Amino acid sequence: MNISYQNIAHFAKTKLLVGVVAALGLVSCTADPNSPGVEYMPDMYRATGYEAYLKKYDIDSTDFFERNLKKLGYDQAGDSVKGAIESEVAALYNVFKSGLITRKPVEGTIAEGKIPFPIEKGDRSKAKAIKMPIPYTETSLVEGKAYYEIFCVHCHGPKGQGKGSLIQKELFLKPPAYSAGDTKNLSAGEIYYTIFYGKGMMGSHASQIVEEKRWKIVQYVQTLQGNKVEDLRDAKVNSSVELEAVDAELPDSTQAK
Ligand code: HEC
Repeated sequence: MNISYQNIAHFAKTKLLVGVVAALGLVSCTADPNSPGVEYMPDMYRATGYEAYLKKYDIDSTDFFERNLKKLGYDQAGDSVKGAIESEVAALYNVFKSGLITRKPVEGTIAEGKIPFPIEKGDRSKAKAIKMPIPYTETSLVEGKAYYEIFCVHCHGPKGQGKGSLIQKELFLKPPAYSAGDTKNLSAGEIYYTIFYGKGMMGSHASQIVEEKRWKIVQYVQTLQGNKVEDLRDAKVNSSVELEAVDAELPDSTQAK
């Protein structure tokens, strides 16, 4: 075998590499059984993401004021704007002082695609003015019936006569039949109001049923009132009453001048 200088160098390099790897293997272990030892790129194993609503830091100990005053140019600012900068930072402080990782939504925030019910509890008379926002279709009525049979049938009964299973067992006060008396004339908006806020012994169902489903249930209840689907589609039901009610509710500023 021809022992050349290159061969020796190559052999030495390989030996050195093996030695280094072996030594690394030895020192990267620790005596603590819970410790993973030395890790190659630990960021890959453990994400730096925070858990929502975790109380992560205490802003009182993070020179919050100094940092943010500096950021807003307090040092360079003229005396006239210093006060404004101070109060801006104070306001920021109030927002962040809980130290939560994820901020709570600003009060009054509306989630995308959601329209808040514009009537306050107790303002029932205004509910007449609220129109059915979704079209009456076969699907919406079938779905409305299905939701009705989940959320309402045990009190109101399958035909809306107020003879649900709870009533038959005398476990609850009998609701009025949808097709009788004043209940027959309730408009879509009023039925929606009742689902949203409840009435008397009937509790609010707003937290259990999302907006779109509530309106589908309203459609089905309207058929139980004895309305024909065609009439509902053409909005013949209660339309004259609704228009009068809307006019009466409008504040002066919106009246045509
Ligand atoms: C636990 C029993 C119960 C459940 C469940 C229930 N209701 Fe009622 N509901 C009642 C009672 C009792 C009344 C009568 C309340 C009153 O007039 O004081 C009533 C009244 C009503 C009225 C008439 C309101 C009015 O203004 O006169 C409507 C409409 C109505 N319910 C719809 C529904 C719908 C829709 C559901 C399902 C999402 C539902 N209810 C679920 C017990 C219930």
